[in-house]
Amino acid sequence: MKTVISGGTIVTASETYRADVLIEGERIVAIGTDLSEGADRVIDATGKLVLPGAIDVHTHMDMPFGGTTSCDDFTSGHVAALHGGTTMHIDFSTQPKGGSLQDGLDTWHAKADGKAVMDYGFHMIVTDARPEVIEELDSMVEQGVTSFKCFLAYPDALMVDDDTLFAVMERASANGGLVMIHAENGQVIDTLVKRAVAAGDTRPGFHYRTRPAALEGESTERAIALAKVADAPVYIVHVTCAEAVDAIARARAKGQKVWGESCTQYFYLTQDDLDRDGFEGAKFVCSPPLRTEADQARLWEAIRRDELEVISTDHCPFNYEGQKTLGRDSFAGIPNGIPGIEERMGLLSEAVWEGHLTAQRWVEVTATNPAKLFGCYPKKGTIAPGSDADIVVWDAEATHTWSKETTHSAIDYTCYEGMETRGVPTHVLSRGELMVEHGQLTDAATPGRGQFVKRRPFEFERPGEFVGPVEARETAHA
Ligand code: URP
Ligand code: ZN
Ligand code: ZN
Repeated sequence: MKTVISGGTIVTASETYRADVLIEGERIVAIGTDLSEGADRVIDATGKLVLPGAIDVHTHMDMPFGGTTSCDDFTSGHVAALHGGTTMHIDFSTQPKGGSLQDGLDTWHAKADGKAVMDYGFHMIVTDARPEVIEELDSMVEQGVTSFKCFLAYPDALMVDDDTLFAVMERASANGGLVMIHAENGQVIDTLVKRAVAAGDTRPGFHYRTRPAALEGESTERAIALAKVADAPVYIVHVTCAEAVDAIARARAKGQKVWGESCTQYFYLTQDDLDRDGFEGAKFVCSPPLRTEADQARLWEAIRRDELEVISTDHCPFNYEGQKTLGRDSFAGIPNGIPGIEERMGLLSEAVWEGHLTAQRWVEVTATNPAKLFGCYPKKGTIAPGSDADIVVWDAEATHTWSKETTHSAIDYTCYEGMETRGVPTHVLSRGELMVEHGQLTDAATPGRGQFVKRRPFEFERPGEFVGPVEARETAHA
C-alpha cells in the first residue's frame, strides 16, 4: 500500500518546508515533490502542517494507585491519544512491593497485549532495591525497558529512600538506563498533610498548600546531587515550579547530564483551580500540584531556553464520580492524577499561536526529544525516510472547544471544559495506517494492532562531555 501526503508543510524539530511524503507499508520511504503518481491513497494536506506523531513519555494506564485504578486502559487511552495526535506513549510498569521487576513488567505487558491500538513502551518503577532487584535492572535494559523511575514522594506507597535511589543510579550508570525522578520531599509533605487534616483543613485546596514548591526544589537538588556522585544521567519528571527548573538549569550549565520535563497542565492550570467551589477542585489534584502564574512563566521560559526538554502529560485519569470522591471527607484521600493525553497537542498548538514557543520547538518537545531521550529515535519522533510512518496532518487554523462530550478518554471530565484552542489533527497515521480522519476513528484502529517498542539504552553518556538531545550546548557551558 502506497500512501502520499501531498502539498503539506512538514515541520520537524529542525526544519519547516513544503514537500510530499511517500509511505510504503509501515514506513516513510521518500520526501520530495510530486510524489502522488501511482499512489493507492493521497491525503491532501494543502494548507496544513505535517508533523511527526507525538510521543507521550509519561502516562499511567490501568494503574492501581491511591486505593483505586486509573480509568483508561490500553484501548481507551490509545483512542484518546490518537484523537489528539499522539501516536506512541511510554507507560510506567511497577515493581510490586517485595516482588521482582520481571513480575511488574509481565503484568504491564499483559495489560497492553491485545488491547493496544498504537505503539507503546514501558519504563519500570523501582519500589525496593534488594541486591537481586538491582541486578535485574540489566535484564530490563535487554528487554527494551531502558528507563527506571524512583519516587521521592508517596511514603507507604511508592517512595524509596536515598540508598535505593543511589543504588538504581549506580547500576543505570553502568547499564545505559536513564533514571527518572518524581521529586518531592514525601516525608515532610506527609507531616504537613497530617497537620492540615488534624486541623480540619480537608478541602481540595489543601493539596497544594501541603506540597510547597520549596519541597519540590529541595528534592530536585538532592536527586541531581546523588546523580552526580553516581555519574548517572537523570531525568526529572513533571517539573512544576521555578525552584525545580532553576536547580536543573544550574546543573546543566555545569555540564551534568540532567534533563527535565513538564506537563501540559502546569502551563494551563493553576492552584486556583484546586480552590474551585465545593469539591470541584478534586478534578485538579495531581502531584506535584498545580502552581502559580509566576511558575507558569518560568516554565515557558525554560522551554524556550532549552532548560526543559519535554512536555508530556502524566495522564493518570480518575473519574470524578466514584474515584475523586473517595476524598470527599479529606483531600488526603483524593487519588492523585489527572487526564491530558488527548488535550496536549491542541493546547500546545494554541501556545504556538500565543508565541510561547515556535512550531519546531513544539514538535521537538512533544516528539523528537522524547524519542531521542528514550531510545527510539529516528524510528519515532521525526519525518524522514526509514522512520515509522507515524504522522499527523494538522490544521493549525481550525478551532476546537474542549468538552467532556467530545473527548475520548474513559474519564467523566476534562480539566479544560469550555476552553477554545487553535489547531486540530485532521489525519492521524500509525505505521502507515490511518487511525483518525476528521475526528472519526477508522476501522483500522483496532485493539491489538499496537506494538511494544523495544527501546535502546541511553546514548548521551560520554563521560566529561555534555551531549544533549539538542545541539546548542555551548551556551550552557559559557
Ligand atoms: O498525580 C500524579 N502525578 N499521579 C500519577 C503518579 C505520579 O506521581 O506520576
Ligand atoms: Zn510522579
Ligand atoms: Zn506520573
